[in-house]
Amino acid sequence: MTIKTLLGTAALLAVTATGALAEGETVGFSQIGSESGWRAAETTLTRQQAEERGIQLQFSDAQQKQENQIAAIRSFIAQGVDAILLAPVVATGWDSVLQEAKEAEIPVVLLDRQVDSADDLYLTAVGSNLVHEGEVAGEWLAGEVGDRECRIVELQGTTGSSPAIDRKTGFENAIKDHPNLTIVRSQTGDFTRALGKEVMESFLQAENGGKDICALYAHNDDMAVGAIQAIKEAGLKPGSDILVVSIDGVPDLFQAMAAGEANATVELTPNMAGPAFDALEAYWKDGTTPPKFIQTESKLYTQADDPAGEYERRKGLGY
Ligand code: AHR
Repeated sequence: MTIKTLLGTAALLAVTATGALAEGETVGFSQIGSESGWRAAETTLTRQQAEERGIQLQFSDAQQKQENQIAAIRSFIAQGVDAILLAPVVATGWDSVLQEAKEAEIPVVLLDRQVDSADDLYLTAVGSNLVHEGEVAGEWLAGEVGDRECRIVELQGTTGSSPAIDRKTGFENAIKDHPNLTIVRSQTGDFTRALGKEVMESFLQAENGGKDICALYAHNDDMAVGAIQAIKEAGLKPGSDILVVSIDGVPDLFQAMAAGEANATVELTPNMAGPAFDALEAYWKDGTTPPKFIQTESKLYTQADDPAGEYERRKGLGY
């Protein structure tokens, strides 16, 4: 045995003794797609986090299709990965594949969206309180509008996804005691900028060229950015003629706020992978079981919160 081999063996033993065996673990990541700036940032940060921790990441882009996610998870199970990260496009339909992962003893961590399955089918879920996000947006609007009559249009996220369901519920909770605030139109924009613009154009047309709309609530910033463009093309001023409140906190929305064209956003961190890998590393090391839900913060930003500075601060952070 050469000195080099001896040193290598000693180093391996030292690593084993400290329990730092997370080095070289393989994690399969079933990502939804790239529908929004927020989603792209989450993908970038997950790759960065894996690299920094020496985790081999197997990445699969489902292009918004649940069947692609299920196929990816089955392929990760067949490969015998050490864990699976799943950002589930919709909330239902996961029981069988999660059961298969459980039987293969592969821990699954949910990222940013929830599933309707029993919670013993996954190790933990990292995400924000999605109902609370909608409540924060609704409370902000109710405070801003005061006693004025306000006809609201709503751009919903992907139909059947937990953020679309919960952000709607939260917003409705917040405005229910304000009869002067009414949601007059509500339709999905599938969390994309293009559909946000298209659906907003139809709202504007149906609402007297937009003159009857007081506010837009969009379930994400990308749809809001698309809608802002539609409002401008209709000859109205987003941010004043039509108030704009949305969720995510992506750089483009801060830029719109700095220009006075958007009013508020509720931040959702794209760094879901950090807490997810922390939980997995503890689990791999000594079987530590994380809480079933690891909650990230939801902070409201308005035009008063230095949107130009926030734009500068965020634009390099994976977006
Ligand atoms: O699940 C989180 C949501 O998904 C983000 O708010 C949105 O931008 C993304 O597409």
